[in-house]
Amino acid sequence: MITEYLQFIARTFRIYDGVIPSIEKVLSKTGSDSIVDLCSGASGPWSHLLRHTDRIDVVLTDKYPNLASFERISADSGGRISFSRDSVDATDVPEKYDGMRTIFTGLHHFHPEPARKILQDAAEKGRAIGIFEFTEHSLPAILSALLGIPLMVLLFTPFITPFKLSRLFWTYIIPVTPLLIMWDGVISDLRTYSVAELRDLVSPIKTENYSWEIGKQKSGVLGINITYLIGCPDKQA
Ligand SMILES: C[S@@+](CC[C@H](N)C(=O)[O-])C[C@H]1O[C@@H](n2cnc3c(N)ncnc32)[C@H](O)[C@@H]1O
Repeated sequence: MITEYLQFIARTFRIYDGVIPSIEKVLSKTGSDSIVDLCSGASGPWSHLLRHTDRIDVVLTDKYPNLASFERISADSGGRISFSRDSVDATDVPEKYDGMRTIFTGLHHFHPEPARKILQDAAEKGRAIGIFEFTEHSLPAILSALLGIPLMVLLFTPFITPFKLSRLFWTYIIPVTPLLIMWDGVISDLRTYSVAELRDLVSPIKTENYSWEIGKQKSGVLGINITYLIGCPDKQA
């Protein structure tokens, strides 16, 4: 229910729309049109983001794949979104996945050592990677999660797909879902890497001919701060 809520929010508020130009720039540089989305959860923002570009194809992957969700999103995508039925660990992605890797709202799940492994794996295998986080370790973000998320869950639950009676039950009869998603939001904000922490993560990675770009940009209808980290081979691998 948490990842379906995340997908709904990303789509409704176009949270990640602003990062498409950066992704397209990397794809042009690496001569690829393929995305391998890691930690895809309930599929994340890609089904929505693909409306902004007709050149990109996406493979959804997760260590614990939500196959029901992947199948639904793939069937509605006109062949542009496929998915892996097998578990794909973001810290050691099989060589056969040769597109640019993306992780939306996911890096904060990893402690520094596995987070660095995710970045190192991409760099060592010569794959581009884009990490995008709309959560943020800041007082305004934590206060908005504390106060805003329960209200948003109560307001938006009837519109979240797929329709599930259980979602209504656990939101309006026994309100576990608003509290759980609020807790997840606050902890995610607290755990989100800052720009300086992301720089520290990549600094020991000494792969040659590979560059990192780290920063923040405003995105979406709410102008939310997205923290991004983009790794890209200097020349095509
Ligand atoms: C917060 S969800 C990300 C949601 C999704 N990207 C989105 O934008 O809605 C984090 C996901 O990471 C997955 N995950 C956790 N550890 C992983 C790992 N080592 N490799 C790949 N996926 C992992 C979880 O199964 C979960 O679906």
